[in-house]
Amino acid sequence: MAGNGLRKEHAGNVRKRVLLIIGGGIAAYKSLELIRLFRQQAIAVQCVVTPAGQEFVTPLSVAGLSGERVFTELLSLTDEAEMGHIELSRSADLLVVAPATADLLAKMAAGLAGDLASTLLLATDKKILAAPAMNLRMWLHPATRRNVDILRQDGVVFTGPNEGEMACGEFGPGRMAEPAEILAAANSLLETDTQLPLPAAAGRPLSGKKVVITSGPTHEPIDPVRYIANRSSGAQGHAIAHAAAVAGASVTLISGPVAIADPAGVNVVNVETATQMLDAVTNAMPADIFVSAAAVADWRIAAVSPQKVKKSGQQAPELELVENPDILKTIATRKKSRPCLVVGFAAETFDLIKNAKQKLTGKKCDLVVANDVSTEYGVMGGEQNSVHLITKGGVDSWPLMAKSEVAVRLVDVLATMLREKDDGMS
Ligand code: C5P
Repeated sequence: MAGNGLRKEHAGNVRKRVLLIIGGGIAAYKSLELIRLFRQQAIAVQCVVTPAGQEFVTPLSVAGLSGERVFTELLSLTDEAEMGHIELSRSADLLVVAPATADLLAKMAAGLAGDLASTLLLATDKKILAAPAMNLRMWLHPATRRNVDILRQDGVVFTGPNEGEMACGEFGPGRMAEPAEILAAANSLLETDTQLPLPAAAGRPLSGKKVVITSGPTHEPIDPVRYIANRSSGAQGHAIAHAAAVAGASVTLISGPVAIADPAGVNVVNVETATQMLDAVTNAMPADIFVSAAAVADWRIAAVSPQKVKKSGQQAPELELVENPDILKTIATRKKSRPCLVVGFAAETFDLIKNAKQKLTGKKCDLVVANDVSTEYGVMGGEQNSVHLITKGGVDSWPLMAKSEVAVRLVDVLATMLREKDDGMS
């Protein structure tokens, strides 16, 4: 512990409070600049420096810059009397982990709580922003990739790492985001409500319900080595599957080819083409809720070449396309055992609401989640999403938020709609 006595009151108006956890990495020196930037914007910063972090920055310099007492140890009776670890983790509006080392990310993903930093990260009821920094091989290691996927699904938001030369002389992704970038990401999170609901507080509203979700792109083969696809990462659909499982549903996720991890507690069926996706969805019926989050290719090649198509002179090959089945509409118009709720997605680059309303009626859905996928918003493959929920009753526009949060809130809405329908029937 460093600094004198309890938290000092800041001069001027403190707009927000951040708890900054400084892990052990060469990038820790940038966190000193980050503290300065936060304070310039009237954001108070309480810091925790891990034992490894103390090898790179001293608690004394952190206390000097933050103007607050710095915490370093989990078990301190004095601290528990003055400010317990639970209060420490909850008194902030946002937790920022910078640098977020491979070790810290692994602890967070596993839910470990053997030291102060990991305990605070597990006990918090606020959003977490992580700025990873590590050697590029550590960042690219399958274990770290898995941990990052799990943390994203748990709602952790990432900024960076950036590509560049590393302290160890190698070049690639692993450099911590610059302090100004971390500040911008924190400010964007602080603009919305950073309070997280208690995971079990709302009970398990989808307990006993079956949810089928499609996610990711479909790949439509041209020949054995080429295919038509789209840019869907599967992040939003997978997050919805995870949120539905957390809400107690039995979830079948039918996924096109994606590079992200399977969500925990979900039955995953992997497919490639739209036709295979339709078969898998039909096999997974009946269900209480069907969410069609996949970006299904509208067309496939009429005659897939059994051999690799070769260049022949100047003539480019002509690809004849046939329309794929509309999985969403097929399920929404089932005569027998139609799911109680059918949810479609409308990813548009213009006339978003108009197109989404047409999809609601045209595809006979109960709800359409519309999102603007123009490149300027970075939704495709990004971490955040700005959605509008369209029902017969009207349009509900949500602010920009993490895809994991869209998922949790959407599952909440679906649980309420399902309950209302069930009540209406009884
Ligand atoms: O018509 P459009 O492709 O824009 O519609 C998007 C919605 O329809 C999404 O929910 C998508 O999953 C679903 N869809 C489908 N099968 C298709 C095309 C789209 O289920 N062949």
